[in-house]
Amino acid sequence: MRMQGKVAFVTGAGSGIGRAGAMRLAAEGAVAVVTDLNGGAARKVADEILAAGGRAEAMTLDMTDTAAVREAIADVIGRHRRLDVLHSHAGIQIEGTLEQVTPEQMDASWMLNVRSHFVAAQGVVAQMREQGGGSIIVTASNSGVQYDAGMIAYATTKHAAVAMVRQMAKDYARDRIRVNALCPGFVDTPFNAGFERQMGGRQKLEAYVAGEIPMGRFGSTEEIAESILYLASDESRFMTGMAFVIDGGEHL
Ligand code: NAI
Repeated sequence: MRMQGKVAFVTGAGSGIGRAGAMRLAAEGAVAVVTDLNGGAARKVADEILAAGGRAEAMTLDMTDTAAVREAIADVIGRHRRLDVLHSHAGIQIEGTLEQVTPEQMDASWMLNVRSHFVAAQGVVAQMREQGGGSIIVTASNSGVQYDAGMIAYATTKHAAVAMVRQMAKDYARDRIRVNALCPGFVDTPFNAGFERQMGGRQKLEAYVAGEIPMGRFGSTEEIAESILYLASDESRFMTGMAFVIDGGEHL
């Protein structure tokens, strides 16, 4: 059990990659604090973990609500007296070019894809320092290390998330707080609905993935969860400030 005795706080964990990561960490012994804007979805994931014999809690949490994020993190620290892993995962994808995306949509992208990670990380560092270290994982995307056609709000904010991760990694390395960016490529979750629309439907999306991704397929949430576990656990203890790309070769 690689995460025994650890407490992991996961955002956007009611679905997709966040859910799979929370379940993987819990399977390795962590207490998974499953948070999501959709409280019912968070509850369902926590119940699945409990049913499998793991430890989990559910919380309704909107990552754009600064006060609520601070309060939720403080509550977990207050009750558990530690917080070992922050996986700040929730994000938003608004498609479009410079002429299509509104300033308000750019603000919304910044709010969730950058600012919410800043607020969450700010909430955990003092505790991590005091307890002798921790792992912060920020979900960016392979769009944080490359550029996509017609994705100005997404690519810009995901690059910013990677930049912020690298800055935090440098500032907190001496406190043994590691900060890494999780950069998945195409993973088949509801998150791709917007891109699917942009592509012109499910079949077009599947054809795109089959043709454009060197490995010719989507990644699974379980495959990404293995990387989350690696970044969260001591196995990656000498690694910080990385943009950890798992995308079937799409970035090449
Ligand atoms: P998903 O759609 O399966 O799950 C996202 C979850 O986030 C949902 O349960 C939703 O309720 C929650 N959420 C949305 N807004 C929220 C908010 N303001 N506060 C808290 N929770 C909120 O999505 P998935 O696949 O897990 O992806 C989410 C993250 O992964 C995003 O940061 C995205 O950029 C990143 N990502 C996803 C890829 C993919 O192909 N699925 C590829 C690269 C990155």
